[in-house]
Amino acid sequence: TRVFVSRDMASVALGADALARALSDMGCEVVRTGSRGLFSVEPLVEVESEDGRIGYGPVQPEDVAAVLDGTHPNRLGRVEALPFFAGQQRFTFARCGIVDPLSMADYAAHDGWKGLEAARAQSPQQVVDAVKASGLRGRGGAGFPTGIKWQTVLDAPGSPKYIVCNADEGDSGTFADRMLMEGDPFCLIEGMAIAAHAVGATHGYIYIRSEYPFAIDTMREAIGLSAERIVPFTLEVRVGAGAYVCGEETALLDSIEGKRGQVRAKPPLPALQGLFGKPTVINNVLSLAAVPFILAEGADAYAAVGFGRSRGTMPVQLAGNVKHGGLYEIGFGITLGALVNDIGGGAASGRPVRAVQVGGPLGAYFPPSMFHLPFDYEAFAQAGGLIGHAGITVFDDSVDMAQMARFAMEFCAVESCGKCTPCRIGSTRGVEIMDRIVAARHVTPVGMEQAGSGYLGEALYSRAPSRIDISIEGQTALLRDLCDTMKHGSLCALGGFTPYPVLSALDHFPEDFGAPAPVRQAAE
Ligand code: NAI
Ligand code: SF4
Repeated sequence: TRVFVSRDMASVALGADALARALSDMGCEVVRTGSRGLFSVEPLVEVESEDGRIGYGPVQPEDVAAVLDGTHPNRLGRVEALPFFAGQQRFTFARCGIVDPLSMADYAAHDGWKGLEAARAQSPQQVVDAVKASGLRGRGGAGFPTGIKWQTVLDAPGSPKYIVCNADEGDSGTFADRMLMEGDPFCLIEGMAIAAHAVGATHGYIYIRSEYPFAIDTMREAIGLSAERIVPFTLEVRVGAGAYVCGEETALLDSIEGKRGQVRAKPPLPALQGLFGKPTVINNVLSLAAVPFILAEGADAYAAVGFGRSRGTMPVQLAGNVKHGGLYEIGFGITLGALVNDIGGGAASGRPVRAVQVGGPLGAYFPPSMFHLPFDYEAFAQAGGLIGHAGITVFDDSVDMAQMARFAMEFCAVESCGKCTPCRIGSTRGVEIMDRIVAARHVTPVGMEQAGSGYLGEALYSRAPSRIDISIEGQTALLRDLCDTMKHGSLCALGGFTPYPVLSALDHFPEDFGAPAPVRQAAE
């Protein structure tokens, strides 16, 4: 019997290796794939049958006999038919969870290299035009049009030119880059080879965070296996050393150059003077991995899906306190509420969802009254937030939003590269202000009687001074002023975007900061 078990890091953490061994001991031919991306049914095994692959999950090694005779109660049927999958539009992740990630034959049999072949039959300008026409925007978070970035590099004087893939994926609650690299590495390689043809680059780097050892090994092996296929383009993996700021493009370039990862002032743009001072395309994993589909199926097929100026699909990552966590690839325009409640199934704890953070540690917190927001770069920006790398972290009603605001400041203080003052000093002052607010809301009678749920226990307050001479109003005004300075005075997004989580927590959940609760919308 042929069976399929994921070798993705998340699946292995949930017991996929032991399951694969048990199946092998029963005489099965075990194919290790990437993950399907629905972690609530992992470890998952799919058994090949005349009706397609029949899934069982979650299952343990002791369950394999019941799985193989078809009697196990966690029989899911065809995985594609599950509600979690039926609504997805898998352009980028079409092969993930289906193919053996390191089988060149599997890749070719599932439309692999079609995009590269189409690209190489066209001129560089035609390829750039196709990417422009697709409407693809940078999936790392900033949403800058990929085709325009490529045009800048194509037109830039200088040689050699480089393709750099940003696989530093530092945002908390995100894992799409990792899943793609572990589950379909040739797709990223193909995307980079297309980019190389489009701008005239000969060498590329994939910068992967050290926390992703499976992805590092898989990409290295895949590069070796496909080296002849992408000639004259060559590729290598570089491994980060654990700094969040090295996900910022210019710090990443410094890190590849062997320097300490520090943010460079822009201009010059990396597109003009990037790696080793040469014209460089630097794109996120998901941007590059979207390109083979665009070239193979046509720009129109990609652009046909989406919402407003956000075209194509986004691999959304549901994490935190959520029932059905995982990867859900869908066209832009789906509402935040549909993602969190219908697809995610609400909080895993069974308690009401109180807040979701979208876009990693620098993203805004949204209350359920804003769940009507469509997933779209512009709509989120207008609502004081960002889509970022499309990580959604869910919190139930036990969350203390003042502590989350404090965490944002602390994160910035710890991860700051230290180059500019608003970020380096401001974030530390921000932690101190948050500590004073948290302490003051305890001893200040005003506000406490209106306070809703979500306060921490006595342990926190016992650390606070018993008498505070600064009013909460004064401290929140100071916090807003500080956020304004950080937003406008920081050199990069780390210092510049930390105000998003802080101010959104303050604006949408003022009762956690010792102020009266706002009038809630009926939608809640
Ligand atoms: P940015 O807006 O400064 O630049 C976006 C991209 O467009 C850059 O690659 C830049 O070089 C390029 N660009 C801008 N103008 C150009 C032009 N005229 N021609 C060619 N290229 C041009 O944003 P930045 O600082 O690169 O990224 C910030 C974003 O990063 C945030 O929105 C945040 O969501 C995201 N982020 C993502 C993380 C992750 O783990 N994926 C972690 C932290 C932040
Ligand atoms: Fe460095 Fe922070 Fe300034 Fe960015 S904002 S350059 S991380 S000090």
